[in-house]
Amino acid sequence: MCAEQFTEVAPWYDDLMAEVPYQNWVRYVEKLAQLHGLSPKSVLDLACGTGRVSRILAQKGYAVVGVDGSPAMIREAQSKTNGEIPFYCQRMQELSLNQRFDLVICLFDSLNYITEPSELQAAFCRVSEHLNPEGLFIFDVNGEAAYTNNLFTQTSLGRWRKVQYVWQADYNPSTRICEVHMRFIVNENGRKREFFEVHRQRCYTVLEIQNYLQQAGLECLECLDAFTTRPATKASDRIYFVARKILAEHNQSHE
Ligand SMILES: C[S@@+](CC[C@H](N)C(=O)[O-])C[C@H]1O[C@@H](n2cnc3c(N)ncnc32)[C@H](O)[C@@H]1O
Repeated sequence: MCAEQFTEVAPWYDDLMAEVPYQNWVRYVEKLAQLHGLSPKSVLDLACGTGRVSRILAQKGYAVVGVDGSPAMIREAQSKTNGEIPFYCQRMQELSLNQRFDLVICLFDSLNYITEPSELQAAFCRVSEHLNPEGLFIFDVNGEAAYTNNLFTQTSLGRWRKVQYVWQADYNPSTRICEVHMRFIVNENGRKREFFEVHRQRCYTVLEIQNYLQQAGLECLECLDAFTTRPATKASDRIYFVARKILAEHNQSHE
């Protein structure tokens, strides 16, 4: 039987991502914010998953809120703190917090999981509503190169870990949908158990994203090859965007 995405894997997610250099990712986001003149105090970690990045940000002194659409991932996030970080289960398209932030981040392919363009537009509008004036939205997406180079066909078999996996990706360039059939093998108290999830992502072009940002009142400032300050190219498998909330007066002066 196949579970829904980000359900059965939730308790194993941090083991699975043990080698991801989240500290460096946070430093990179801080650098991008700084380059654009922002010293944020409040941060919304959108699609926060199990809250790894939220916890790093909180340790650095930011006032962090985490939101994710998966109840199982949010339960994991909540179980790893003493309640000092508020975590909410909401879909980005329907984000509704009674609060605005200096910085909203959305990392690690999370936006690619929105497979309907109109819903991505809705998510950007919700982000815009939750940003303080001049606030920044920093996020990454997978570039088309990640899908065409089949980066999601992966296996960890052969290396000892608490969780092992075999992933088979199937990218359709006409629909721009990538389905990744994931088999996980976990070690539960010395016994092996396997489960399956199918993850669905959509590939968006830079131009599409720039348009959706603009429609949501967000000005796209940069599209970067991930973890650099170089512009993204067709070869970029991960692209970072920096967008700024357009001020209302600025909108009016252009009408
Ligand atoms: C690859 S994980 C990344 C998690 C986290 N940002 C990290 O860096 O580890 C993608 C996350 O996006 C969340 N997600 C996918 N679609 C979502 C949506 N429409 N609204 C909110 N969260 C969503 C999933 O539940 C999952 O936790």
